[in-house]
Parts: sequence; C-alpha cells; structure tokens
Amino acid sequence: MAYETIITERRGKVGLITLNRPQALNALNSQILAELVAAVNGFGADAGIGAMVITGSEKAFAAGADIKEMQAISYVDAYLQDFFVGWEEFTRARKPIIAAVAGYALGGGCELAMMCDFIIAADTAKFGQPEITLGVIPGMGGSQRLTRFVGKSKAMDMCLTGRMMDAAEAERSGLVSRVVPAGELVEEALKAAARIADFSLPSVMMAKEAVNRAFETTLAEGLRFERRLFHSLFALEDQKEGMAAFAEKRKPNFSNR
Ligand code: CAA
Repeated sequence: MAYETIITERRGKVGLITLNRPQALNALNSQILAELVAAVNGFGADAGIGAMVITGSEKAFAAGADIKEMQAISYVDAYLQDFFVGWEEFTRARKPIIAAVAGYALGGGCELAMMCDFIIAADTAKFGQPEITLGVIPGMGGSQRLTRFVGKSKAMDMCLTGRMMDAAEAERSGLVSRVVPAGELVEEALKAAARIADFSLPSVMMAKEAVNRAFETTLAEGLRFERRLFHSLFALEDQKEGMAAFAEKRKPNFSNR
C-alpha cells in the first residue's frame, strides 16, 4: 500500500513507521490514523517482523489531533461517528510497539505515544495534554492513560494547566522508560526493538498481554492470568531451547514455536 502521511521501512525484524506530515507537525488526521492502522496491521501479519518502532520528526512526534480537521465537527456527528474510536484498533496490535519521541508529543501525540508499549524519549521531547487551552479535554485516552502512567496529581496538573513536561520530568514521572540524546533516538529504539524481535515471539506477545492485563483487572486475577500464560509457554519448543541454552552456556536459537 502506498502511504502519503507515513513512511514504513523494514529494518531486519523491526518495522519502522515514521509519521510524515511535516507541514502540520504530524498532526493526527483521519488519513494518518487509517495509514497507521494499516501499517501496524501489515507488520502484525508479517511473520518476518517481531516488533515495531513509531517515530516522528526531530521537531515533533505529533502535535496532537488535527485541530483544523476537528474544528467544525458538530456534537451529533462526533457522537454518531464515535469520533476517535478508530484509535482502538491501533491498540489491538499484538506485537510490541515502541514510541520513539523527539520534540512535541502533545494532545493526541502524547496519547499515541502512550498507546504504544513503551516510550523512549529524546532529550528534546516535550509531552503535554493542552486540549484545555482549546476548550476541550483529551479524547484519545489522555485522562485515563496519563493518570495510570504518572498518577493523579501530575495528570491533573497536565490536563488542567495544559503545561508541557520535558524529557527529564517525563522520565522521573514514569511516563518514559529512558531518555537518550536526540541524535541517537531512532537507533536506540531500533536496537531495543531488534533485541525484542530476537526473542521467542509467542513469549514476547504473552509478556505484552500480561503487563497490559495489569491495567484492566485486580491483582489476584492478574496473577492468575500471568501464571496461566506462564504454564502455556511450557508447550513451546522455545522454552526448551531457551532453558537448554542457559544450561549449556550458549545463545538460544528461538524458532518462534
Ligand atoms: N492540528 C493541526 N495543525 C497543527 C497542529 C494540530 N494539532 N499543530 C500544529 N499544526 C500546524 C500549524 O497550524 C502550522 O500550520 P501553518 O503553517 O499552516 O499555520 C504548522 O503546524 C506549524 O505549527 P506552528 O507554526 O504552530 O509551529 P510552532 O513551532 O510555532 O509551535 C506548537 C509548535 C507549540 C506545537 C504549536 O503548533 C501548537 O501549539 N500546536 C497545537 C498543540 C495542541 O493544542 N495539540 C492538541 C490538539 S487537540 C487533541 O489532540 C485532542 C485529543 O485529545 C486527541
């Protein structure tokens, strides 16, 4: 499929997606959503891909949902279309996705980064939920996901004042997993993704599923869910190979089965 608002590349076993609407600081309109979902589903179905990286430009990961596209929408149309529901499909991706964020990740941009499995930030990254300055509130999950990432006080601060958080504060608050120099951002994210893609794909996917379940259920149910997944991994050749390789002091050769 030919894309106009994103660039997709294969880097070994990693699918790299670059948001590419520079004239609008990668503002997320309906076209970019459709292309992003198609690309993620494409890499998801590709047996040669084990993980993905989503990045933007040096100036902006994404400066939010497209304000000019949303501006004139009526309440009834927003309701009837269930505006933004399309992003739910993005979150159904089963292979790991790393957000590599440089520059602005605002509104929907911050929300998209949080829909990924973890965020690696450049030291230039700036996160924010400035919707309040537009007379609205976050609509792609910001009030819910940001609160789970950074806790109530900081989430309230961000959503009520619309201020931005720099990379150091984002790392301190648990929003991002690590901060790297801007010039090394994409390579670092690709390196992390390549490491993931070298592991056994079923165990990687189950690890993702298990961590995500922590946000949806009680501790007792989550622990039970984790244990059942753990048991099921003993049905794989990869478990035998991984443990044999440890015992034999060699590198495992996973077959993804
Ligand atoms: N939607 C549409 N266009 C946008 C945009 C957005 N979210 N963000 C930036 N752009 C456009 C600008 O309109 C401008 O286009 P023109 O050249 O045609 O005027 C171009 O991108 C460059 O932007 P600026 O000239 O504003 O660049 P800057 O360096 O002066 O400022 C910025 C950068 C601080 C990020 C500023 O662009 C800005 O504040 N953007 C909007 C941020 C925002 O409010 N995001 C939340 C959107 S609502 C949302 O996301 C809802 C939700 O929950 C999903």
